[in-house]
Amino acid sequence: MSEEIKKSVIYSAMQPSGVPSLGNYLGALKNWKNLQQDYDCIFAIANMHAITVRQNPTELRKKTRDLITLFIAIGISPENNILYVQSDVKAHAELAWILNCYTYMGELSRMTQFKDKSAKHADNINAGLFTYPVLMAADILLYQADLVPVGEDQRQHLEITRDIAERFNNLYGDVFKIPEGFIPKTGARIMGLQDPTKKMSKSDTDNDNNVIHILDDINLIANKIKRAVTDSDNEVRLSPDKPGISNLLNIYGAVTGKTAEEAQNEFKGTGYGEFKKCVADAVVAEIKPIQDRFKELSADKAYIDSVIKDGAEKAAYIANKTLRKAQKKVGFPV
Ligand code: TRP
Repeated sequence: MSEEIKKSVIYSAMQPSGVPSLGNYLGALKNWKNLQQDYDCIFAIANMHAITVRQNPTELRKKTRDLITLFIAIGISPENNILYVQSDVKAHAELAWILNCYTYMGELSRMTQFKDKSAKHADNINAGLFTYPVLMAADILLYQADLVPVGEDQRQHLEITRDIAERFNNLYGDVFKIPEGFIPKTGARIMGLQDPTKKMSKSDTDNDNNVIHILDDINLIANKIKRAVTDSDNEVRLSPDKPGISNLLNIYGAVTGKTAEEAQNEFKGTGYGEFKKCVADAVVAEIKPIQDRFKELSADKAYIDSVIKDGAEKAAYIANKTLRKAQKKVGFPV
């Protein structure tokens, strides 16, 4: 009997629409790194999703490359996992088209992200924005993923992925694995520093002090934390009516591997100034080595090129198998 037990497949992707925030890092990327021992992980740079809103082409190309470099700098190994750029694997567009024909306008109209984004980009409500969840379904289903770590905002898209897969399987037999959502044991929900009632977002351009980007200058990171909104009772305590302090406790816990409660106990009786300094030091201690590694890796153009090329080949091999199955089922000559 083979000693090798097949590991479950984890699939996730991130859009290269900005430098990841501390929220993306603590809520997603740090977990991705920790999953690589126990799962077969496939992580993509979702640049095809990114063009559903207007991008500067030169910047998009750079951000795509920077994001894959950052994955590696964080410690997500390109040897032990598959890291690739979505547009490098043509099967995504091809399966997405097929799945478009198995998805209803009504289902897509109910997607809250579509409603939000069409309100935000009223001058560019394009068909890609509407069928965005179908492309995401293609991403996931191509790799027969068992588990998909996604945040709250993507949960509805995972649901529709399951619905589309089940519909297709009901018609044609077992073509796609039905994926489950994956909620990691740890995984902090980090809020904005200036508006701690809303999630920290990497594409928040209204107020730069609200978000820490993980490639921000180290001093700037410390200053943003020191300027974070708090309240006036000077007590470091978790409480729904103390969103600013609670958020800083969550951040501190997430970077030091403690629970927010443990963090709270550690800072009992500490004033806000001293507390913020400790949070800033902890965040800097976590981020600085990643930045150093990012700089080193970015300088090695040939290495990053080879990672991108190898990743695309490994991904395409798996994706094409599933694509061929689906093409055969719908009656394409294969
Ligand atoms: N839409 C996701 C986001 O913006 C990114 C994404 C694209 C994704 N394809 C995916 C996430 C497949 C999980 C699985 O966050």
